[in-house]
Amino acid sequence: MSIPSITSKLPQVGTTIFTVMSSLATELGAVNLGQGFPDFPMNEELIKLVDKAMRQGFNQYAHMHGLQSLREVLAGKIAFLYGTSVDPATQITITPGGTYAIYTAVTTVLQPGDEVIIFQPCYDSYIPNVEINGGIPVLINLKFPEYKIDWNEVKQRITPKTRMIMLNSPHNPTGAVLSEEDIQQLRSVVKDSNIIIISDEVYEHLIFDGLLHQSMLRYPDLMERSFICFSFGKTYHCTGWKLGYCISSPELMKEFRKVHQFNCFSCHSPSQVALSTFLKSKEAYLSLGAMMQEKRDYFIGLMRDTRFEMLKSSGSYFICAKYDRISDEKDSDFAIRITKEFGVAVIPVSVFYKNETDNKVIRFCFCKKKETLEAAAEKLRLI
Ligand SMILES: Cc1ncc(COP(=O)(O)O)c(C=O)c1O
Repeated sequence: MSIPSITSKLPQVGTTIFTVMSSLATELGAVNLGQGFPDFPMNEELIKLVDKAMRQGFNQYAHMHGLQSLREVLAGKIAFLYGTSVDPATQITITPGGTYAIYTAVTTVLQPGDEVIIFQPCYDSYIPNVEINGGIPVLINLKFPEYKIDWNEVKQRITPKTRMIMLNSPHNPTGAVLSEEDIQQLRSVVKDSNIIIISDEVYEHLIFDGLLHQSMLRYPDLMERSFICFSFGKTYHCTGWKLGYCISSPELMKEFRKVHQFNCFSCHSPSQVALSTFLKSKEAYLSLGAMMQEKRDYFIGLMRDTRFEMLKSSGSYFICAKYDRISDEKDSDFAIRITKEFGVAVIPVSVFYKNETDNKVIRFCFCKKKETLEAAAEKLRLI
C-alpha cells in the first residue's frame, strides 16, 4: 500500500537552527547561549499562585477571549505604562504565546498575493507565517551594523499590494530598538493607506540605558491599525508556559477572534488566574529591564578579554558579536565549530535572513545565570 502524499505548504522549511544548536549543546555538554530562554528559576510566588489556582478548581476552559480579570489587569497596566485606554472586553485576547498571536494576526489579515514588508534579520516565524497564507514577503535588510530601518527603502518598496508591515522592538536577534524618529517615519508611511501593522513587542520590558519602549500602544493613530503581540513566557521567565496576548482595535480584534476561536479557542486557565493576581504588583514588570541590563553589562564585561567585537544591544536578551578578527568562515560553520571545539553554543545571524546574509556575526543569549555567562566567557577567551 502506498503512503498518501501531500504537497508541502512550506517546502523550504527544515529543522530550525535553534533545535539543531540546542541538540548539539546537549549532546556535547556545551554551555548553551544559543536558544532564547533563561536558565534560572522563574518567580516562586507565581508558581505558588498557579498551584493555588489549580487547587481552587480553575481547571476548566477559560473564556475564549481570555480570563476577564487578566484582561482587566492588563488594561490597567497599559493605561499606567503607555497612557492608553484599552477596552478589555473588545481589544485584548489572551493567546497561547506571542508566536501564535502573530500567526493569528497574519492569518486574519492576509489574502493570497498580499505583500508584507518584513525587516531582516527577523524572528524565524514571520516569513513562513506570511507564505503559508499565500502572502508575499517583501524583505528589507536592516542597516548593518546598527540594524536600523532604512525608511527610504521602505517607501520605495511600498506598492498598491502592500497589506502589512511587521515590526519587532526590542528586536530579536540584534537588540535594536525603535526610536521616536522611526515612529514618525512609520506614521508618514502608513498615513492614508490600508496598511496593517503587526508589532511584535514580546521584549517590551527588556529595554536598557533609560530608553523608552516605542510601543504602538503609545500612538492611537498607529494602534488602530495594529495587532500588538506580547508574551508572558518571555516576560516572566517561563517560556514553556506559551502564554501571551494580542491587542488591537475592536474592529480588527473581532476578526482576529474568529480565527482564534477555531484554532486554540481558549488558553491554560490556572496560569491566567495566577497572572491576574501577580500583575497587580507593578514591581513584577518594572524591575525586569534593570535586571536584564545588569546581565547584559556583566556579559559585555566578561567578553572584553575575547577577540569578539560586541555590537550594541539596547533591548531584548540578545547581543550580537562580530568574529571577523577570528575567522572568515561562514557564520553557520563558525557557530557549529565553536560549539564542538570550545563548548559554547551560539546562533549564526545569517539564519535570520531568507538569503542567509552573512556579516560574520553570531548571537548570544545573555538571559542566563552569572555562572553560565562566566563559564561561556572562559571558553570563548580561548578562541
Ligand atoms: C521576537 C520574538 N517574538 C516572539 C517570540 C515567541 O514568544 P512565545 O514563546 O510567547 O511564542 C520570540 C521567542 O523567541 C521572539 O524572540
